[in-house]
Amino acid sequence: MLEKVHLLLILSISGALANTPIVPDINEIRDSIKPYLPEGISLPEMNSTQIEEGLQKLTDALKQKCLEASGSDTAYDDASAAASTFSECIQNLLDFSNIEEEIEKAKPTGDLDIVFGKYCIKKIPSLDCLETFANATSPCLNAEEKAFKNVFIKMAKRILDFVCHNNGNQIALFIAESGPECFRSKANNLVTCFNKTFDKYNLMSFETPPTFKISQENCGDIKKFENCVVSELEKCRESTSANLAEAMFRYVKKETVCKNF
Ligand SMILES: *[C@@H]1O[C@H](CO)[C@@H](O)[C@H](O)[C@H]1NC(C)=O
Ligand SMILES: *[C@@H]1O[C@H](CO)[C@@H](O)[C@H](O)[C@H]1NC(C)=O
Ligand SMILES: *[C@@H]1O[C@H](CO)[C@@H](O)[C@H](O)[C@H]1NC(C)=O
Repeated sequence: MLEKVHLLLILSISGALANTPIVPDINEIRDSIKPYLPEGISLPEMNSTQIEEGLQKLTDALKQKCLEASGSDTAYDDASAAASTFSECIQNLLDFSNIEEEIEKAKPTGDLDIVFGKYCIKKIPSLDCLETFANATSPCLNAEEKAFKNVFIKMAKRILDFVCHNNGNQIALFIAESGPECFRSKANNLVTCFNKTFDKYNLMSFETPPTFKISQENCGDIKKFENCVVSELEKCRESTSANLAEAMFRYVKKETVCKNF
């Protein structure tokens, strides 16, 4: 389900970039992820006018950002074309539509590693899709963000290396030891961890162009978030989830200025 949400997120962002009429899709997305959300978390109900306005604001902010960084109008158009290409590229490589079913089927026979192996084989071409996208959007980034772009690609690589370590054995173990159930039962608290820590960043504001970087002054907050997440997951019966989350944070941070935090 995480994969699904993730893919939907990419698709909706690319949709916003590609400026296609995706208003009905957003409502569809909201309805399709609703059953997975824990009690007490609700997604904002937006009517189509509000969604259109939000997307328009985001588009305007991104256009402005591209113009400021590149001095040209074509940078935004190139970036939005690259976003469509990226989403096609990923969809052609990876079809997650049956992953839950595959996992359920493989669990009793202990064949989870075969399921993940199948997806992990696509790791390098997926990273290529991402790098092509990052390169094409690079004109929209300022100098600091351009430097972060390389860090970001390395972080993505680290995440996939982590997930696909030993052909996905680590994730297979995570699933076998009730990891997803642990995450689901703590989902509310994890969202609160996120809210509490990143409140001041105003991430949901579409009025100002988003910035893509991690700098030294963010490291304290990232560490705070990490501690909050790990201590919530430690409340589960199995320690797998907390251990995995901690290892993942540590492993991914290695590529950033926060490596010593
Ligand atoms: C959408 O919601 C806004 C704010 O609640 C409201 O002002 C507007 O009339 C609504 N539009 C439609 C088409 O329902
Ligand atoms: C992205 O740009 C870097 C630096 O210019 C280059 O080395 C790399 O080959 C490019 N990657 C792709 C996939 O185009
Ligand atoms: C997190 O913040 C969002 C936006 O401010 C809010 O709508 C949501 O209810 C908060 N969730 C939790 C669990 O605190």
